[in-house]
Amino acid sequence: MKHISIDTIKTWERFYRANFINCLSGFKSASLVGTVNAEGQSNLAVFSSIVHLGSDPALIGFINRPLAAAPHTINNIKATGVYTINHIHPSFVAKAHQSSAKYAVDINEFDAVNLEAQFINSIKAPFVGESFIKYALELSEIVPIKQNNTFLVIGAVTDVLIDDKLMEEDGFIALEKAGSMSCLGIDAYYKTELFERFGYARPDI
Ligand SMILES: Cc1cc2nc3c(=O)[nH]c(=O)nc-3n(C[C@H](O)[C@H](O)[C@H](O)COP(=O)(O)O)c2cc1C
Repeated sequence: MKHISIDTIKTWERFYRANFINCLSGFKSASLVGTVNAEGQSNLAVFSSIVHLGSDPALIGFINRPLAAAPHTINNIKATGVYTINHIHPSFVAKAHQSSAKYAVDINEFDAVNLEAQFINSIKAPFVGESFIKYALELSEIVPIKQNNTFLVIGAVTDVLIDDKLMEEDGFIALEKAGSMSCLGIDAYYKTELFERFGYARPDI
């Protein structure tokens, strides 16, 4: 087995290193974050650092890169206080990936990548029309991470849109039936397959 020290890793080319380190923490869910700026222009970008923070209250976080690298999503969230998270499926994964490109601030990425911006009720932020599982959040807190100038963006879930056939009796959502995709590294996307469900683990069982 190869032993690689961080001193070696630091010498690697930027994208090679990013791919390698990103793979170490494993598969992540791939989602599209939909936002709108104060003037009403929509923005869309891929995010893989989505993390469950708690169910009651229902809080979900994601890591936003430093402002200089990825300013639009976080600035729109600060401006409006709302955003949507949309699962990605194979039928539009290429378009979803394209939304990670650095478009100019005045470009609506829904139009640029040809995905439908769907507005529902009075929710200001756009959903992705093509997504089977999507939810809206209200900004709860933005926590700056000093070590690398990134941000943990924490949102409270306000609305969920889901095909009810995907919801099982115990609340479980069989994401593989929806074809929700996982991702790895900086550009790889995966289909998933259920291996086993075990039930809630207790010491005496
Ligand atoms: C598979 C994949 C996962 C990504 N995950 C994140 C992420 O978790 N956080 C982030 O800040 N950027 C992530 N990005 C990069 C953003 O999509 C990219 O910086 C985008 O341009 C941000 O757009 P914005 O400036 O409109 O917010 C990811 C890109 C890809 C391809």
